[in-house]
Amino acid sequence: MLEVRSMSKNFGGFTALNDLNLRIEKGQIHALIGPNGAGKTTLFNLISGSVPPSSGEIVFLGKKITGSRPHKRARLGIGRTFQNIRLIRTLTARENVMLGCHCWTKAGMWSSFFSSPIRPSAEESEIRRCADGYLEFVGLGHRADMWPHALAYGEQRRLEIARALSMEPKLVLLDEPAAGMNPQETQELNTLIRRIVDFGKTILLIEHDMKMVMDIADRITVINYGQKIAEGTPLEVRTNRAVIEAYLGEGE
Ligand SMILES: Nc1ncnc2c1ncn2[C@@H]1O[C@H](COP(=O)(O)OP(=O)(O)O)[C@@H](O)[C@H]1O
Ligand SMILES: [Mg+2]
Repeated sequence: MLEVRSMSKNFGGFTALNDLNLRIEKGQIHALIGPNGAGKTTLFNLISGSVPPSSGEIVFLGKKITGSRPHKRARLGIGRTFQNIRLIRTLTARENVMLGCHCWTKAGMWSSFFSSPIRPSAEESEIRRCADGYLEFVGLGHRADMWPHALAYGEQRRLEIARALSMEPKLVLLDEPAAGMNPQETQELNTLIRRIVDFGKTILLIEHDMKMVMDIADRITVINYGQKIAEGTPLEVRTNRAVIEAYLGEGE
């Protein structure tokens, strides 16, 4: 589904990613782990197109997308959530998701948002139904009319997932979706991610909760200081010497 080839990213003199290669197979849950500052979010930014690479190439579904703009990649089927939640504060939960659904309508979001609030167009009703479907899917059907900041932290993260899904991505990039969640919320998120895969999506997941990663991932890539240090099944990665050292420090 996705191939990252010899990707490097420098910020000034600092190398955030160094000659990284990555292959993500369709239908898998592929986890990306590594200590803070390892370059995980930078890799997401490079894949989604918000940051240009210093060198290297990205191939998505057999097509080179290295130079293409973020919205174009979104239309091709790359969706994402953000480590720091990015919901629009002045829109309700439903409206936040509607923004994603609008991506597929001919009217586009502005014409619809400025349309008559008394008599919404057939298209807008359609978009509302679409948004409500995704809210239901992530378990937020009862929260549709609430403001994002009135939602619990875990709910905000699920709302971001609903918005990402509403753009009908094939590959979903989740940046620390379990951050700030309690064990029960994490368990529910786990179930949600599996259901997303059951719907034919592919997942690339950055996550610090090691129990969750080991439980859910088909394949794990470990990066440290911008370089891949290990890759394999959860069992292979868990017993890998370089990984243990990166996480616990040498000698432990
Ligand atoms: N836009 C930027 N400008 C300068 N340095 C950056 C930028 N984005 C990330 N970095 C640096 O790159 C390194 C990797 O960051 P990041 O990808 O966010 O790590 P991770 O997500 O693995 O914690 C960090 O040292 C960070 O400070
Ligand atoms: Mg990060």
